[in-house]
Amino acid sequence: MSQPSNKNLRQANKAKKDEFYTQLSDIEKELKYYKDQFKGKVVYCNADDPFESHFFKYFASNFNVLGLKKLIATSYAGSPIVGGQLALFEIEGLKTAKEKEPMKIVVNEVKDHNDDGAINMSDVEHLLKHDKNVATPLKGDEKFNGGDFRSEEAIKILKEADIVVTNPPFSLFREYVEQLTEHKKKFLIIGNINAITYKEVFPLLKNNRMWLGASIHSGDREFRVPDHYPLKAAGCRVDADGNKYIRVKGVRWYTNMDYKERHEDLILYKKYTAEEYPKYDNYDAINVDVTKDIPMDYAKSIGVPITFVDKYNPDQFNILGLCASAGYDKDIVGIKFNGDKDARPLIDGKIKYARIFIKNKKVTKSL
Ligand SMILES: C[S@@+](CC[C@H](N)C(=O)[O-])C[C@H]1O[C@@H](n2cnc3c(N)ncnc32)[C@H](O)[C@@H]1O
Repeated sequence: MSQPSNKNLRQANKAKKDEFYTQLSDIEKELKYYKDQFKGKVVYCNADDPFESHFFKYFASNFNVLGLKKLIATSYAGSPIVGGQLALFEIEGLKTAKEKEPMKIVVNEVKDHNDDGAINMSDVEHLLKHDKNVATPLKGDEKFNGGDFRSEEAIKILKEADIVVTNPPFSLFREYVEQLTEHKKKFLIIGNINAITYKEVFPLLKNNRMWLGASIHSGDREFRVPDHYPLKAAGCRVDADGNKYIRVKGVRWYTNMDYKERHEDLILYKKYTAEEYPKYDNYDAINVDVTKDIPMDYAKSIGVPITFVDKYNPDQFNILGLCASAGYDKDIVGIKFNGDKDARPLIDGKIKYARIFIKNKKVTKSL
């Protein structure tokens, strides 16, 4: 059987199918690294149907434990499951809400309604059912549908937020990240590792304004998809209740919230030899095909695969630039490729895969 692949994601991108719903366990595994950073904060989960989303469930049921000031979640007019769960919660006053009407949910506090000594989803459901002020429909504007992260209503919420946490639409990832950085927000969002090479994304990684999260560095992750999604690819399944799931490779968290583990040194064990580490034909850097083989004693520029960012400790390495195998805009690369028109990494005339160029900060003496 073939392996689950990026193909699932590429197909979704192509068809602008953005309906991949994140599992609670994946959210919990990542969020545990930042628990103390949420105290007193306004958290915004956009692109996120609050009635279905596990992001909303995570923050609503952990509202008091995290010490949140406010939780805001918004759903998107185009999402096929929007409104699908209104019946479940039977929100008073919203029963007549038009199907698929996008909503904004604002939670200011979660009380222990059932007096079981703990805050959980039944307390959140109680709040949603009985507090008429919690949910309001989003109207959108001339340019954007209700709940679109680019709409005026959504930007107003964004301005109020301290931290944005979600799995945004893959097809709009560049624009989404640009908006977050423009508004100088803290964020923790899901994307694909290939986004590293986007010209809107790489400079943020290079300048330490964004990095990868803590919990996912390899393998694939499972996402629920709407019932109408075709399940042809390998790695798809349907559970006992008929819910469909797809496994996607290359999933990563992207964030600008710090965590201890990213400051741990990558242990290097190899020594440089000219034979093992050839230089590029067109750039003065040695080539390393596997990140763990970075030589421990090389002080100058080293080309590594893009998955290096999974191991990147900013105290150990500097990122100098990027060179994609298909060529790259030199402004982004940050590296002059001896005046070549296409800045592509060549060894013996052969194009290598995309490379990130790094320097080991801790090696000061050239060999
Ligand atoms: C990858 S899904 C993730 C959903 C949810 N955040 C989760 O993780 O379970 C992205 C969601 O963004 C919605 N979406 C698509 N375009 C959007 C836009 N322009 N603004 C806001 N949301 C959008 C999609 O309908 C979809 O529900």
